[in-house]
Amino acid sequence: MPPESPLEHYRELIEQRLEACLPSVDTPPARLHRAMRYSVLAGGKRLRPALVLATADMLGASPEVAAIPAVAVELVHVYSLIHDDLPAMDDDDWRRGQPSCHKAFDEATAILAGDALQTLAFEILAGEPMAGCPPARRLAMMHELALACGTRGMGGGQALDLDASGKTLTLAALRQLHGWKTGALIRASVVLGALCAVEADDADVLMPLRTFAEEVGLAFQIQDDILDVVGDQQRLGKMPGSDSARDKTTYVTLLGVEGARQEALQRRDLALQALEGLPYNTDSLRAFAHLAVDRDH
Ligand code: IPE
Ligand code: IPE
Ligand code: MG
Ligand code: MG
Ligand code: MG
Repeated sequence: MPPESPLEHYRELIEQRLEACLPSVDTPPARLHRAMRYSVLAGGKRLRPALVLATADMLGASPEVAAIPAVAVELVHVYSLIHDDLPAMDDDDWRRGQPSCHKAFDEATAILAGDALQTLAFEILAGEPMAGCPPARRLAMMHELALACGTRGMGGGQALDLDASGKTLTLAALRQLHGWKTGALIRASVVLGALCAVEADDADVLMPLRTFAEEVGLAFQIQDDILDVVGDQQRLGKMPGSDSARDKTTYVTLLGVEGARQEALQRRDLALQALEGLPYNTDSLRAFAHLAVDRDH
């Protein structure tokens, strides 16, 4: 995989599997199915599923197996975006270059679409054939993904984020918040990819990969904070200025744009360091670390 395009290599496989796993609009409840398809198939960078596939690839697992957890993490991610945009949360009207789910449909449908995407992720992870992947590893994948969605993961991070509106957090508190709301699912993406190839107790592989993913996740969310200030609406596909409109503490409010940039670069370097002792070709994972901070959308 060419390091300069870490997102492109698996795009076709990801799009095809996402399309195939979603319920048809020809079966009831059609409006709910339409909303799920609307949000999932609207593009997006597909960073998390690409990370699953790249990690699995690096360790020698087949893309056919890794496509199952790849789809699962993207479904969870899209659920988190739909709920994140709701009026009760960030109240954002645009997502991935189109009206947010609750604008295109209605709030109740958006809530249900998010709920249904989350459970679909676990349905797929529990039930789709994964040749050569023993049940214990599949169970470890479900456990990891559930933790990443829960109160010490994305859900908990989103709760801290809401609670912090209008308050000034310390840098340490913001780091924890970002680690939960964004880092946890990115870490799960790398770990699920690894579990396609190694056992859950393989600390020599999993520990450095966890560290790598946590640092990439933090760098990724710091860059998201930066783009909310300096980003272009067309490129982003969402409205910049959302954080200041909701009076959020971000890396930019605490450190300024340049300070936040320096912090993101440090996180990238820590991610790269974490890969150094691994006896595999880490080129694609290294490319993801660079992408997290060099992206403009
Ligand atoms: C946006 O994630 C939400 C964050 C956690 C920062 P992405 O920037 O990966 O959004 P898509 O999937 O490309 O739309
Ligand atoms: C969202 O963080 C994290 C999620 C779990 C969805 P943001 O609220 O900053 O994400 P955007 O900027 O709306 O994509
Ligand atoms: Mg938010
Ligand atoms: Mg938001
Ligand atoms: Mg943001």
